[in-house]
Amino acid sequence: MQIFFKPEIREFHLRNDEISYIIGVLDDGRLGQLHFGAALSPGPSYRHLIGARQRGFEKGGGDFALLEYPARGTGDFRVPALEVVHADGSRVIEPVYAGHRILAGKTALSGLPSTYVEKESEASTLEVDLVDGPSGLIVTLIYSIFRDVPAIARSVRFKNSGARPIRLDCVMSALLDLPDADWEMLSYSGAWARERSEFRRALAPGIQSVYSVRGASSHQANPFVALARPDAGEVSGEILGFSLVYSGNFLAEAEVGPYRTTRVRLGIEPTTFSWLIEPGESFQSPEAILAYSPSGLGALSDAYHRLYRERLARGYWRDRPRPVLINNWEGTYFDFDEARLFGIARAANELGVELFVLDDGWFGERDDETSSLGDWRVDKRKLPGGIEGIARKIEALGMKFGIWIEPEMVSPKSELFEAKPDWAVGIPGRRRTTARNQYVLDFSNPEVIEHLYSTMVALLRSAPISYVKWDMNRNVTEAFGATLPPERQGEFFHRYILGVYELYRRITSDFPEVLFESCAGGGGRFDPGMLAYAPQAWTSDDTDAAERLGIQWSSSLCYPLSSMGAHLSATPNHQTGRITPLSTRAAVAFFGVFGYELDAAALAPAAREEISRQIVFYKQYRDLIQRGRFLRIRSPFEGDGNHCAWMCASEDRKRAVVGVYRLLNRPNPAAERFPLRGLDPALVYRVSLWPELSGGDFVRIDNEGVRGGDELMTVGISIADDPWQAASRGDFWSQLFVVSAE
Ligand code: GLA
Repeated sequence: MQIFFKPEIREFHLRNDEISYIIGVLDDGRLGQLHFGAALSPGPSYRHLIGARQRGFEKGGGDFALLEYPARGTGDFRVPALEVVHADGSRVIEPVYAGHRILAGKTALSGLPSTYVEKESEASTLEVDLVDGPSGLIVTLIYSIFRDVPAIARSVRFKNSGARPIRLDCVMSALLDLPDADWEMLSYSGAWARERSEFRRALAPGIQSVYSVRGASSHQANPFVALARPDAGEVSGEILGFSLVYSGNFLAEAEVGPYRTTRVRLGIEPTTFSWLIEPGESFQSPEAILAYSPSGLGALSDAYHRLYRERLARGYWRDRPRPVLINNWEGTYFDFDEARLFGIARAANELGVELFVLDDGWFGERDDETSSLGDWRVDKRKLPGGIEGIARKIEALGMKFGIWIEPEMVSPKSELFEAKPDWAVGIPGRRRTTARNQYVLDFSNPEVIEHLYSTMVALLRSAPISYVKWDMNRNVTEAFGATLPPERQGEFFHRYILGVYELYRRITSDFPEVLFESCAGGGGRFDPGMLAYAPQAWTSDDTDAAERLGIQWSSSLCYPLSSMGAHLSATPNHQTGRITPLSTRAAVAFFGVFGYELDAAALAPAAREEISRQIVFYKQYRDLIQRGRFLRIRSPFEGDGNHCAWMCASEDRKRAVVGVYRLLNRPNPAAERFPLRGLDPALVYRVSLWPELSGGDFVRIDNEGVRGGDELMTVGISIADDPWQAASRGDFWSQLFVVSAE
């Protein structure tokens, strides 16, 4: 990996073994985008890729130019990277090249989560200063290229070196101009309990976008999009990935211009953002990660998984096997006391569960959703011995204890709201909207952060707490910062999320060995920003195995399995009423950070036995699952959507666990084959089934035994029941296969 600079023509080439990112200073001082994609040889100049074209306006090069950080107002009428308002009310800005630095390694962003390196040799960084002469705004474009991942980190720092204030109205973390529009845009859409459904559409002239203005990255959208060539699939075709390391309002947008160029921009959502920088002040944008794959989505996911698992997630738990947990939420909801919780913990402990998580309802007088958020002291009616009492009893079983908290919220019915009504987000003189009977606390107010910091420190010191589930169950309405002056109200949403990051940073550094799991009504803030503080997140409140296939599949486009909490829950499922076999519920939840969410004390003996075997299996393979490569084999969105298959393979290609799933059973079914990936074609493997099937079962006969890696990767696992055997399988059937090199 290296950053080359050609001083004669002022051209920068960031390059590693897989990708090149090339930009050049144009004659008028702006930066032009020359290439992002496959690695090109470092020798030649690529200046000609900008084209000699010049249409329309003299300065802006019209809507034709391929630019790096454009603004509006001088001839480029496409969506901009940067919009400002000067002290005189004018909006034109023309930042031009003023200098650059090439640095070893990669620096952290002030106040914001970002990817990092452990050794300087893992990345190189280019900082290019652009200056707008009349205003004195310095725009520093920051690029880091990683040695081992086909990805670039981009962010932008602004400094007002002029004499008058400047308001930033739009600051994209990255903008990329591409020379053609022959792409499809892949993005996520969703809602509570059905987060992150993948969605693919051909780019058309005009703007196509996904965004959030909810104060969180949201259930409805997610700060990740990819551009895929129309023929690109899982293992072939060019794909560009755009992911924003941010948890607040974001915009990811592609505009196809009049000359069929494509402009992609990614950053803080501009209509809910502005930021005033006084002379001498600075502003830092969040970080965007741009990745490239010449060979389909699989390789793009590999890049994001590796980077996010190893160089975004951090700390004590990054590489450690995550505990198998049991969470009492679906088991008890608010209806518990110490004896009931302890009964669940004891039963779970006997089954091999390692961590008990006490969910909502332990504080204030919270018997339902209508009260007590903000009053983070134990409810002695339910837990007479306090958190310490229950935590110590659970620790005495040899288990760890964890707790749920929703620090960003306050119930109208709470002591905190009574004492500090102006800490809840709202506009003086206007009605506040409740959602789930709660208000959001004003995280743009440092006093609020200070209060929650001392509250959380006191809680975590009060008892042996090894895990925290940090929830956030509603979005922001009536956005207003009570402590912000009128001209800074546009800063509210970003300041809110900076406040969240600040609290996370302080708490996680004070309690480095506590495992944090982020949550927002399930996966409403399931994004790379959160991953920098909490190495795992609650993927969705939907625990139905059939639904989870789609949610986990789609989430895995960008996010590693080590980040996805996945729990086995009771049937009929609480979100769908569906009944699925216990084995299938495990076979789905295994592909993530595994746990249970049910009343373990109420399990029938046969279920208890099966669950103990599940836990033994997961512990045996969790390292492979949490840290191996995840490969998507058959999409639940493909064809009639009746099958799904995926696998985890070790980096050395010697071990793998494969999951094959069928939703509805059919009489006299057609045969299905699932060619595997991530193995070594030259090795010989033993394939075994988990759970085992009877000796006469065709799935066993056809698959168990010794197979070549070449065969497994071309023919693969085959499912070919005869009508009689198919009749015995039922719906929501699944089978796991363990593949180990001989
Ligand atoms: C959210 C979470 C759930 C649970 C409840 C408790 O919905 O996603 O897992 O913690 O809150 O109120």
